[in-house]
Amino acid sequence: MHKSRSLWQSNLGFLMAAIGSAIGLGNIWRFSYMAHEHGGGAFLVPYLVALAVAGIPIILLEYGLGHREKGSSPMVFARLSPRFELLGWWMPVVAMFGIMLYYSVVIGWCVNYFFHSFTLAWGSDPQTFFFNDFLQLSSSPAEFGGFRLPILLATALVWFSCWFICYRDIRHGIEVAAKIFMPLLLLLTAVIVFWTLQLDGAWEGIRDNYLSADWHKINFLAADPEARAAAARVWVAAFGQIFFTLSLGFGIMIAYASYLPAKTNLARNALITAAVNCGYSVFAGLAVFGIVGFMAFSQGVTFDEAIVGGPQLAFVVYPQAISLLPDFNSLFGALFFLVLIIAGLTSGVSLVEAFTCALTDKFNWRRKKVVTALCLLGITGSLIFTSRAGLYLLDITDHFITNYGLVLGGLLQCLIIGWYVGPEKLRQHINKLGSKVPQIWNFFIRYLTPLVLLILLLVAIRGDLADNYEGYATIHLLLYGVGWLIFCLLIAYFFTRQPWLAARLKHKHRYG
Ligand code: PHE
Ligand code: NA
Repeated sequence: MHKSRSLWQSNLGFLMAAIGSAIGLGNIWRFSYMAHEHGGGAFLVPYLVALAVAGIPIILLEYGLGHREKGSSPMVFARLSPRFELLGWWMPVVAMFGIMLYYSVVIGWCVNYFFHSFTLAWGSDPQTFFFNDFLQLSSSPAEFGGFRLPILLATALVWFSCWFICYRDIRHGIEVAAKIFMPLLLLLTAVIVFWTLQLDGAWEGIRDNYLSADWHKINFLAADPEARAAAARVWVAAFGQIFFTLSLGFGIMIAYASYLPAKTNLARNALITAAVNCGYSVFAGLAVFGIVGFMAFSQGVTFDEAIVGGPQLAFVVYPQAISLLPDFNSLFGALFFLVLIIAGLTSGVSLVEAFTCALTDKFNWRRKKVVTALCLLGITGSLIFTSRAGLYLLDITDHFITNYGLVLGGLLQCLIIGWYVGPEKLRQHINKLGSKVPQIWNFFIRYLTPLVLLILLLVAIRGDLADNYEGYATIHLLLYGVGWLIFCLLIAYFFTRQPWLAARLKHKHRYG
């Protein structure tokens, strides 16, 4: 006999954990550079469309599935049909091996920068510091050039923290951590935003770049084919960002919802999770656009000259701004990186949990052993991203995993629920529990969402075939992008092939 499934202590605890998973580095570090690259405020349009068309429908789907079937994603999909188990494994495998291996390294950078804030270690040239002194970036993705010890140690610390939080059961581990970290995170973020708004030039930066929009960048019907292709890419990025930011297509929300008690207002929880997460991003964007505005003002340059696009935003632009602050520079810097660390950790544990939940469900292994083994495996896998080629590798992996891996997971989930199970069944399950999902959701899951996701996949493929992403060599894109996806597929296939302990697949808790 195995003991019954562990449960959240309270709905609030669940919400904090789910929001903790959703709010992560992606909300601050990824969202802002996406917004900047893709038309400033105009990016909010595809972003909100993606939220409505894919984000909310799929978060409802994942909550509904996890709750109704009471299982991790492999268990849920294997119960629907053995044919679907591969998809069930694909999602947590992508979470663990496709995302967490590099995600933990980026949190590790933040840990380093937290300490660097006290001495303003980046000096007068944060760009050189970041690339040459900190990352010691090699000249190509093929040249690993050894490990960066400070990054490796910090990454090990991140994995240790995840281990420490996940080791206990849901209620005493993840839920307790979420209840401590989430209020703290919101408080610290508010401090940073209001602090930033006091700075000279901050408001102008926000007004002219965040609240105003470059509409051309999102016009995918433009007459000029090049503009059209560029705009299409913006839309792909927006959908990728919505999946990433809401932690969808990983099986995380399925696992988290499987720990909910029988009577739970699922639809309300889904809306709250989505709204708080996206609201947080838009709010945190004020801090980023504000600080760049301040920098532009104090250096007498334009906003566009002050900002460096891409992932460097947090590690080059921010340090520069921190050094320029009139007072309390170190405190501000430490706060900023602490916010990133906390946001990242609560997401990291959810990535580990999705896979843990899958393994304990299928093999009935003890949770503690699984968590320990996974975290050891995790730090080993992360090593490659702590090498001197780390930034290249994580840039490529991130691009392929989010734009293909997650979107594909979302698409297949829609098709299976839409066409095999029938969305109406799931909708009725959700509706019995509290707030009602309108009938149009069925239409979204069956037609609209998968159609849009399919188009996006095709657009992404066409874009990647037309030019090499960020100009990387084809061989490197094949290796770290496509190869990474295939590697995930093989792992998922391996686990699918293992036999189930017969009793594990029977549904003992069904009330749907
Ligand atoms: N949602 C998190 C973020 O925005 C990242 C994340 C992705 C967390 C996938 C869990 C799973 O940063
Ligand atoms: Na997020």
